[in-house]
Order: sequence, then C-alpha cells, then structure tokens
Amino acid sequence: MKKIMLTGDRPTGKLHVGHYVGSLRRRVELQNTGDFDDIFIMIADAQALTDNADNPEKVRQNIIEVALDYLACGLDPEKSTLLIQSQIPELCELSFYYMNLVTVSRLQRNPTVKTEIKMRNFEASIPVGFFTYPISQAADITAFKATVVPVGEDQMPMLEQTKEIVHKFNSVYGETLVEPQILLPDNEACMRLPGIDGKAKMSKSLGNCIYLSEEPEEIKKKVFSMFTDPTHIRIEDPGKLEGNTVFTYLDAFCRPEYFPEFLPEYNDLDELKDHYKRGGLGDMKVKRFLNNVLQAELEPIRSRRKEWQKDIPAVYEILRKGSEKAEKVAAETLRDVKAAMKINYFDDEELIKMQSAKYTEE
Ligand code: TRP
Repeated sequence: MKKIMLTGDRPTGKLHVGHYVGSLRRRVELQNTGDFDDIFIMIADAQALTDNADNPEKVRQNIIEVALDYLACGLDPEKSTLLIQSQIPELCELSFYYMNLVTVSRLQRNPTVKTEIKMRNFEASIPVGFFTYPISQAADITAFKATVVPVGEDQMPMLEQTKEIVHKFNSVYGETLVEPQILLPDNEACMRLPGIDGKAKMSKSLGNCIYLSEEPEEIKKKVFSMFTDPTHIRIEDPGKLEGNTVFTYLDAFCRPEYFPEFLPEYNDLDELKDHYKRGGLGDMKVKRFLNNVLQAELEPIRSRRKEWQKDIPAVYEILRKGSEKAEKVAAETLRDVKAAMKINYFDDEELIKMQSAKYTEE
C-alpha cells in the first residue's frame, strides 16, 4: 500500500512554536526521509470559516502567513503538495455523503468540539457547519487516502471519527476508503507546549505565543518574561521542574549540541535539571540558555521566511499548483466513492443494460 501523509492547519493566525514542536518539525523530518509516496499539507480555510463565518477577511489574510510559515520551516513544494482546502470542491461532496454515516449524538460526544463550543460561547447556538467539521475533516483525510496524519493530541477525536467513518463506509458500500494512522509528538513537552505564561496552551487571544516569524529581540523579551517556579526565590533555593515553562521549552527544543555551544559546564539537560532541583542554579542562567537555544532554532526559519516574503506571487503559485494537483487526487477518490455507493449512473453500463432488459422482457 502507498504511504501517504496528510495534515493541515486552520489559517486564523501566524503559526507559533507550539505548532512547530507539535507537528511542523515532524512533518519536515518525515518529508525529508523520502519514505512517502505523497504528502499533502492543507491550509484548512473552509474549516476556519466554520467558526469565523463573519470574518472571512481574517481567513483570507492568514492563508499567505501560514503558507510562508510552512515554507520557512522547510516544507518543500517539490516534495510536499501545499493546498487550500476550499479549492477542492470534492471535499464538500464527500462530506455530504459521510454525513449519513454519523449520528448527532456521536458528534456531540467529540471532546475537542465540546471544548471549542465552550471557548467560543456557542452553547446557545452552534453553527451546523462548525458542529459537523469533524465529518469534513474525515473527508480531508480520506480524499487523499492518507495513511499517516501527524497532528497534536487535540486532533485525536477527529482521527477516531475518521476511522469510524472509514469502517462504516467500507462495511456498507465495500472496501473503498483507507484507514489513517495518527502520529502524535513523541514527548510530553511537544505534545502540550504551554504559553510563555505557563498557561495550558499557546493561544493568540491569551497573548502568550512565540511566533515562528518573531524577531530576535522579541523572542528574548518573551523568554526572559517566562513563568518559572514561583517558589524558587533565591538562587540557593531548590527549584521545581513541574510546571516550569522554561524547562518544558528546553525539553521541547534542546539538542545535545547546544550544551558545548552555549553551556559547556553541563553535559546535558539532566545535569542542568538536577542542579536546578538541588538549588544553586538561578532562573536567569537557565533563561539565557533557553534564549540561545530558541534563537538558534528560529533563526534559519525566520531567514527562510524573509526570502519567500520577497516573492509572494510565487507562494500563491505554489498553492495554486498544489491545489490543482490535490483536486485530481480527490476527484479519483470521489469517483470510487460514488461507484461504491452506486450513484455513478452514467458510468455504469451494466445498470443501463439491466434497466433496458427489465422493460424489453415485458
Ligand atoms: N483541525 C485541524 C486544526 O484545527 C486542521 C485540519 C483540517 C486538519 N483538516 C485536517 C488536520 C486534516 C489534519 C488533517 O488545526
């Protein structure tokens, strides 16, 4: 079977370091292994509109930002197909048929959708499109016959929903759709990178993000304002690692080679952590190290972004070509789906013959 990777993001803002360690970095690594027959990276604008219906301009403006962030991180249009969801009408058609295979109560149980409904104060009046977006996401994934979907933990319910649709479809209409595998980040810090204030998640509305396109001065300011251990007051005091954002970021970003480069008196992160726990290591020193690490990680991303920013028309052209290629693939899947569902009347000579026979026999 072919190995196909698919994933995507809603274009509602620039991407931040939480997106990077949660999924982007992995995508690029997977892309560069050359193990995949095809890779599709989707800018999910139609999904973004399910809870931004009255703000299309925001979605429109952020398409290019997300595309630039993708290219900046090292997604390579020669190896990965970058596409815009709304430009693939087949996805709507697939969604419409999948809707028959999902119950309202099943959608109501989706924990991610539940949280989002609370966050957006949708309790009293949930837009139908928003409520059903897990079905449309199943269409995104199955349209490209994706086998691997690298995403964050919050997307687990969407993958479960997709698998259920695949099973149901295949059992009712015959083997047609491919079951996808979720690929989660491999460490806890990457799975749930907190905002710089130590709050659960990085989010634009909380103002606690470090963006991939952030300038060095801004990164430094944010690192030095990070939440640590509020009980670690004097340098001699023993420090806690749990909930200590600076150490969570080091878990997510530090590479062994950064010690000889920036902090040669320690061999590795474990030694640094032990010293902090024992006492005698100040927050400032750890923050200076984290700042060096983040600057080293983000510098190549920022400079690649600046290169692409010089040729915005070329970026739109990449998206146009990618969307065109993606549509061809989705159209093939839709053809298979319609054949399986027996709604391919005009391609089905057997059907026409059978119906003719019925009436010539009379
Ligand atoms: N739900 C994803 C997010 O909020 C975006 C998305 C849309 C997606 N379609 C997808 C992710 C298909 C993976 C696969 O970021």
